[in-house]
Amino acid sequence: MRLTRKVTAMALASCMVLSLAACGGSKPAETTAAPATEATTAAPAEAETTAAAKEEAETTAADAAATVEGKDPAEVKVGISIYQFADNFMTLYREELKKYLVEEIGVKEENISIMDGKNDQGEQMNQIRNFITQGYDVMIINLVQASSEPTVTEECNAAGIPVVYINREPEAEREQAWVDEGIKATYVGADARQSGTFQGEEIAELENKGDADGDGVVRYIMVQGDPENVDAQYRTEKSIEALTAAGVEVEELVKMRGDWDQTKGQEITANALSQHGAKIDVVFCNNDAMALGALQAIEAAGRKVNEDIYLVGVDALVEVVEHVMNGKMTGTVFNDYFGQAHTAADKAMDFVNGKDVDNVYMVDYVKVTPENAGEVLELIK
Ligand code: GAL
Repeated sequence: MRLTRKVTAMALASCMVLSLAACGGSKPAETTAAPATEATTAAPAEAETTAAAKEEAETTAADAAATVEGKDPAEVKVGISIYQFADNFMTLYREELKKYLVEEIGVKEENISIMDGKNDQGEQMNQIRNFITQGYDVMIINLVQASSEPTVTEECNAAGIPVVYINREPEAEREQAWVDEGIKATYVGADARQSGTFQGEEIAELENKGDADGDGVVRYIMVQGDPENVDAQYRTEKSIEALTAAGVEVEELVKMRGDWDQTKGQEITANALSQHGAKIDVVFCNNDAMALGALQAIEAAGRKVNEDIYLVGVDALVEVVEHVMNGKMTGTVFNDYFGQAHTAADKAMDFVNGKDVDNVYMVDYVKVTPENAGEVLELIK
């Protein structure tokens, strides 16, 4: 029964995401491996079966899967470490991950340990070593520093524990090394290049292409995440690339790291506004938390988003999507933590059950503009 419910829920969620993706209008960036869910391949067959037959087929499939899988989910111990609990987006992600593991996969709540890495790689390393000592079956790790992956992988591999890395992508050569050396490690994330491109396109698609003061040059400030993180690097680079690709002349006035943090986003934007004033046409923020901070600074300076300045973020936090609907923000990009959390949990279970797992899984981003913000809100609220 439980597995039947899971299949239906997955199919539904995936259809919603797919239809949203279609609304986004742009072609998804190239992905490195299989899409987030397998529900699309199952869809045509399902459409032809009656509800009763479908139920029976799913139950039989579930029984068969249970026999092959062997390991009872209730017995599986999952060790999770998040780079820091204080991060808004990773909080949504972590809650969804736990919910899915318990409600859809059947892992016992007491067998899931979720640790706060406190943005300290040493602290996180201790948590990982504790998971090893305590004989956890699999780990899901959101690294504090992606550069620590070789050490983490080596220690987990030596202990025979598979690792699913999430959110902070290790080096591509390392991902290849897992394959070449037969190491049980994978990365589940989203291609940050795509989110950057979407941000740039959201500005380029405005009637004035982001040139708020109409002087022929789009002058912008860039509020960056943590620059060690590829998400920050790619969003910074690709947003501007998309704008220039649309034939827009640009000038960067300020680029500063805000570490994904709302207060820092507010401070950086406030300083930039007092230094450059009306010259600023666009505020690009690598994430929504910083964009919310930027919005506070913009309002405090008496400027009006979508009238004399534009503002975009990434993640699609509920508050931000509401702002996109009511015109207080220009746009954002949905960072699909449902798809990412579900894929991470599914791959962790596949590892435990000895199934084949690819080295990289990328979940698509979705553009969020006034046209589809209502739909996105339905999905995330
Ligand atoms: C990004 C996300 C940010 C922050 C960061 C942490 O994908 O957009 O808000 O959570 O991950 O690594």
